[in-house]
Amino acid sequence: MGFERYVLVTGGAGFIGSHLVRYLVRRYRDWGIVVLDALTYAGNLENLSDVLDAPNCIFVHGDIRDSVVVEGLFRRYGFWGVFHVAAESHVDRSIYDPVKFAEVNVVGTVVLLSVAMWWWRRHSDRFHRFLLVSTDEVYGSLGEEGVFTEESPYNPRSPYAASKAGGDMFAHAFFHTYGFPVVVTHSTNNFGPYQFPEKLIPLTILHFAEGKPVPVYGTGENVRDWIWVEDHVRALDVVFQRGEPGGVYHISAHNEWRNIDVVHAVGKLVDAYLGRSEGTYRRWIRFVADRPGHDFRYALRAERIRGLGWRPQVSFLEGLKRTVEWYLTHREWVDRVRSGAYRQYLKRHYSALLGSSS
Ligand code: NAD
Ligand code: DAU
Repeated sequence: MGFERYVLVTGGAGFIGSHLVRYLVRRYRDWGIVVLDALTYAGNLENLSDVLDAPNCIFVHGDIRDSVVVEGLFRRYGFWGVFHVAAESHVDRSIYDPVKFAEVNVVGTVVLLSVAMWWWRRHSDRFHRFLLVSTDEVYGSLGEEGVFTEESPYNPRSPYAASKAGGDMFAHAFFHTYGFPVVVTHSTNNFGPYQFPEKLIPLTILHFAEGKPVPVYGTGENVRDWIWVEDHVRALDVVFQRGEPGGVYHISAHNEWRNIDVVHAVGKLVDAYLGRSEGTYRRWIRFVADRPGHDFRYALRAERIRGLGWRPQVSFLEGLKRTVEWYLTHREWVDRVRSGAYRQYLKRHYSALLGSSS
């Protein structure tokens, strides 16, 4: 079945990518949504189980660094645009394996940009945008005051942030050198269902529920700016459709919280959900050694995207409540992620695909 147009979503089996794919598949039924994902530890096809069988969702198991695979997809589908979401995303892992982060987040991005540009040069009338999903972390750390704007200089401080900054720089270079129509978004910390339980919010929910220690790095006073993942995804669609080529767009709900306050908010919700007496969760909070180079605070000003009509729709506490309920009612998902059984999903359900694409 042919579709009016096709878009490529990289990293669509991860946390944000799976929400984006679900959104695009349901909203644009006349578009083919092609998902390219290497299914690393962070990629889980179960995250897409409710849309994988949709006629307009096409999953391809492959690596963004593999130019042959990427070029083959461009030839086959003639993409109208790219949402580049795939990355190594966890700061703690980047501290132990910076080379992997450089390979995926820098080299992988350059490979994708190069193939997409090759295609765009031949079919510029049929290629709209290359959207690169970046992060607030590229700007470095703020003190108690201040906020980053789209004009703030880069000052990445973790290997993860440095690798994302490297990918961003190439995207900007492709716009300035070749006129290739990139847009770059910088989002704050996302939260919601399907986040890999190594990140603060899902880890805290599960450990409180299971009576396990919750590690709070340092004093817990570091500040993060949180956004409901589906609000982020709607913003990506807005920027993809209406963002200026070469443009930079911040995505923030202007919702700053100290980590320790997030931990308390989660603890209260978990206690309430499980019918425990108030404050039970407190016994599991542990202050542990700080993350090396731990950035103190991030905050973004995001007026530009509001000018395109986007607003966040889900408040932090409402989103947190939904997230707690999701993790506590999706124990099978959690168990399969923890045991590694989730990695069999592709083999069990999509062996034909695996055979044709690996
Ligand atoms: P994630 O770790 O949950 O998912 C990453 C996905 O990319 C996985 O499905 C993985 O299999 C895939 N992937 C990794 N390497 C690949 C490769 N070489 N080829 C193909 N696929 C590969 O990440 P996430 O938290 O959903 O973040 C998605 C994007 O958003 C990243 O670019 C990240 O930098 C950015 N971001 C994340 C947040 C956040 O709070 N999570 C905030 C701002 C920006
Ligand atoms: O700011 C956007 C970034 O948010 C994204 O670019 C990253 O991909 C994403 O992983 C996230 O990075 P953080 O490092 O902010 O997220 P994480 O959930 O790992 O940590 C949030 C805060 O909580 C951070 O200050 C470190 C702290 N923390 C984290 C963990 C996992 C703890 O105190 N204890 C923990 O166990």
